[in-house]
Amino acid sequence: MKKIEIINGPNLNLLGLREPEVYGHRSFDGYLEQLRRQYPDVEIGYYQSNHEGDLIDRIQAVGFEADGIVLNAGAYTHTSIALHDAIKAVPAPTVEVHISNVHQREEFRHKSFISAACRGVICGFGLDSYRLAVEALSPNPPAGDER
Ligand code: DQA
Repeated sequence: MKKIEIINGPNLNLLGLREPEVYGHRSFDGYLEQLRRQYPDVEIGYYQSNHEGDLIDRIQAVGFEADGIVLNAGAYTHTSIALHDAIKAVPAPTVEVHISNVHQREEFRHKSFISAACRGVICGFGLDSYRLAVEALSPNPPAGDER
């Protein structure tokens, strides 16, 4: 069974409560159950922290054994060179995700310090951004897919 780790950064523990007009009404726990049902052949781990160093520790802890990391670094996306370095330090490919389309929002959200270290970026599809990232990292592509 292949392993993908979803890592959520600061304030994403408040999904469902936090600015629902931007991030929706759904809690991440409920969404995660659905995602695990949708990908029964993938072991989907989950970690959330509001602290930058904890996110780095988690990337280091899983990044040598996981098949991929799905990272929503929240606001640290726009500030953290240390997260950029952690992503580069481990062999697992990381997909950067955002629930909102950060490019439609304030200018300070247009710059990502982590994109250049990531395999790719998915943003603006609501919680479905996470599924699209799992799909991109999926070790079981659909028949006929030559990725
Ligand atoms: C976010 C976008 C970030 O700019 C913001 O700081 C977040 C959430 C998103 O998922 O849309 O906390 O990463």
